[in-house]
Amino acid sequence: MTGRVSAVRLRALLDVDAVDRPGYRDIAERVRLLVIDGRLPSGTQLPSERDLTTALPVSRTTVTRAYAELREAGLLVSRRGSGSVVTLAHDAGASGMLAPADAGPGAIGWTVAASAAAPGVGLAYAQAAAALPAYLHQSGYVMTGVPALREALAARYTERGLPTDATQIMVTGGAVAALGLIARTLAVRGERVLCESPTYPNAIESVRRSGLRPVAVPLDEDCWHLPSFEATLRQAAPRLAYLIPDFHNPTGALMDAATRDALGAALTRARTTPVIDETMVELVLDGDDDAMPPPFAASAPDAITIGSASKSFWGGIRIGWVRASHDMVRLLVDTRHSADLGSPVFEQLVLVELLARRAEVLAEHRAALRRQRDELATLVTDRLPGWQFTVPPGGLSLWAQLPARVSSTLVIAAAREGLILTAGPRFFVGAGGERHLRLPFAREHDDLAEAVTRLARAYQRCRDRTDPPSTAAMHALTA
Ligand SMILES: Cc1ncc(COP(=O)(O)O)c(C=O)c1O
Repeated sequence: MTGRVSAVRLRALLDVDAVDRPGYRDIAERVRLLVIDGRLPSGTQLPSERDLTTALPVSRTTVTRAYAELREAGLLVSRRGSGSVVTLAHDAGASGMLAPADAGPGAIGWTVAASAAAPGVGLAYAQAAAALPAYLHQSGYVMTGVPALREALAARYTERGLPTDATQIMVTGGAVAALGLIARTLAVRGERVLCESPTYPNAIESVRRSGLRPVAVPLDEDCWHLPSFEATLRQAAPRLAYLIPDFHNPTGALMDAATRDALGAALTRARTTPVIDETMVELVLDGDDDAMPPPFAASAPDAITIGSASKSFWGGIRIGWVRASHDMVRLLVDTRHSADLGSPVFEQLVLVELLARRAEVLAEHRAALRRQRDELATLVTDRLPGWQFTVPPGGLSLWAQLPARVSSTLVIAAAREGLILTAGPRFFVGAGGERHLRLPFAREHDDLAEAVTRLARAYQRCRDRTDPPSTAAMHALTA
């Protein structure tokens, strides 16, 4: 037993809102996906039918039939005294099977696209320790960030072709924290946020948890297709647009300069504020910095840009930032007061040191990632014939297109091989994703080779059905 999920929480997870009246199949389907990708781990107790009926805009019969369907599919068991409990029938007794931490010894967690610290991060910590005493006579509360860091970040934007001064920067506890703050500050509950689909799953979650509604614009062939964006801007009038133009997660695509200009103009016309996530921007793996298009905000003056040290240097630094107009920074600071009072000084100093040696640190980091990307591409080509992908010009993962709609099935089969992946649908806003799998390459060769070996084994089983999921329920689960 891993705990219980309340009716209100389940409603949020199911993404049901007041104007959405899902049928019982729809509810069962949404629960099925939550179970598959681990958001409802095996062992979780669902709310009673009565409580869920109260929380959802549907009848008791709909909930009863949805639970019955899940029971029939082997995803739910009813236990006296503990209500309806999520179970993965093929893996009785496992708890949170799809979560790397629970996957058992020897399991490879392949759900996170992040690397070990870039070379030079340790040295930056030592240098920051030497710089720290100069700050100790101050209070340590700096809502917008340590001035030296704000200046260094502003200088980097200016260098990239977007003139910026330090007062346009606010340091945060990472890019996701910045996104949550922007969503809470600018949008009113129920407003829409345009998102690429696929996109970064934590961003979808952050938008939803802020009470906003993500609206999908599909990336066709991993590209930004302007008419689709214009149509959604017209039809949905979103308040914000969350975009990842620089080595998009998960596709790795890079938006070209002309599309930035055209999309920026469309967003400005529609009065939709772009929130541009540049977390991956420094992970240039082909060409060099000079070949990069200008920052998106150069094409959309109202854009709010968010950045992070997490991928360029190390996730453990836990520092990100916002670049926006002075007025916007002031507004964000106002909202921030109620949540937190600034970011740690020491880690900001670490980032100051890293930015001072940026070119040298990134050169080594990029070289390692480039090698790992090419190794993974070769492994997938050799071991998984029929899988397609475009070698991304930057970022941290390959976005593989599978020969069939088997992503969730495969994720479950891979978990049985001790390989924990994120199912394609998690990256999509609404429907989609069963043909895709994200394969992060930020790992050493042996790890990549072992991961692909396990993946190929799992895929073979799915294809041949020589070792089909052990109950009929699993077929239903992945149909
Ligand atoms: C697009 C994108 N934004 C944000 C993040 C997380 O950033 P942070 O660690 O600064 O919150 C990630 C991490 O994978 C990401 O891919």
